[in-house]
Amino acid sequence: MYEYVHGGDIYSAKEQIGKEEILDFSVNTNPLGLPEEVKQAIREALADSEKYPDPFCRELTAALANYEKTNQDYILCGNGASDIIFRLALGLKPKKALLCAPTFADYEKALKTVGCDIEYYYLSIEENFSIEIDFIDKINIETDMVYICNPNNPTGQLCSKSFIQRVLDRCRETKTVVLIDECFIDFIDQPEEYSVQPFVESYSNLVILKAFTKSYAMAGIRLGYTISSNKLLIEKMRTCGQDWGVSSLAQAAGISALKLTDYIKETKRLIPEERNFLIGELTNFGFEIYGSKANYIFFKTHDSNNVQSLKQKLLSKGILIRDCSNYINLNSNFYRVAVKKRSDNMKLIEALKEVTDDENNDYNIRWAGR
Ligand SMILES: Cc1ncc(COP(=O)(O)O)c(C=O)c1O
Repeated sequence: MYEYVHGGDIYSAKEQIGKEEILDFSVNTNPLGLPEEVKQAIREALADSEKYPDPFCRELTAALANYEKTNQDYILCGNGASDIIFRLALGLKPKKALLCAPTFADYEKALKTVGCDIEYYYLSIEENFSIEIDFIDKINIETDMVYICNPNNPTGQLCSKSFIQRVLDRCRETKTVVLIDECFIDFIDQPEEYSVQPFVESYSNLVILKAFTKSYAMAGIRLGYTISSNKLLIEKMRTCGQDWGVSSLAQAAGISALKLTDYIKETKRLIPEERNFLIGELTNFGFEIYGSKANYIFFKTHDSNNVQSLKQKLLSKGILIRDCSNYINLNSNFYRVAVKKRSDNMKLIEALKEVTDDENNDYNIRWAGR
């Protein structure tokens, strides 16, 4: 049977507990929610929705080129960032690819559709799940593609720009295409210090992936894009999918989102504050926190023989968190929670106190001293 492997499945959660309202900490979208201006743009776009959308997303790619300070021909929009991931795999049909473990599941899923052989670079708990320099040793003439998620999902760890440049240099020698997934980069403290967008022009083997999904809380609208100066790659990705992958409503939403400066400013204020708050609170439960430089926190609970997982316990309180046991190289002690607004973060902490406070709990509770 098909297994859905991502967060955000509030639908199954509702069925499971018979509640209408689920507080979803399992997806990491902007806690400010879908901006009012974007909702209005979608309402206005409805008037034209009997027509096919612009297959070339002309107005949206022009706005993106201006926003990203790049060439319009370097941009391809898709039905969410995942659409681009699949288009790239289908377009290139790589025979061998290098992936980190753990990382976002769709790279592997897309590569499997073309029968690609996958080599894993196992991120280790001892190194705090960061990518080390020996990653580069794994790249050779047979490696057709390399994937780096920056910041990584689910760990929240970052790779420096200079490290990625070394990867790109090595991959230029081996004629390897490098996908850098920056879908969460807007949520880190200094995105400009980490984004490899300035390398687009000089590295034709670089493909950057970005999404409106997370940055503007548009998960249900489906809008992502890629930037690459390699026009052949862009063309291949365009060919490997339908021509109307981005609806007219999504195009209008994207154009309007790019104008929102106050929303981004407020996001940049809110995320570090709430991330620090949540990290402090989760540490008080004795959880080990790793990386977590983005708008989500990756942590490990203590080994447990408990039949009921932390996820199940919290679900009984109407809160959904991401159980990371289905990521390669992780187990059922690892979880990920989104950084949300203070009122929601407090609900998570209160629920955690309740579920870790019952007599059967085997978590290391430190509340006694507070
Ligand atoms: C790192 C990463 N890249 C890409 C995606 C896909 O995003 P979208 O919803 O825009 O397809 C996700 C979704 O969770 C993700 O975590």
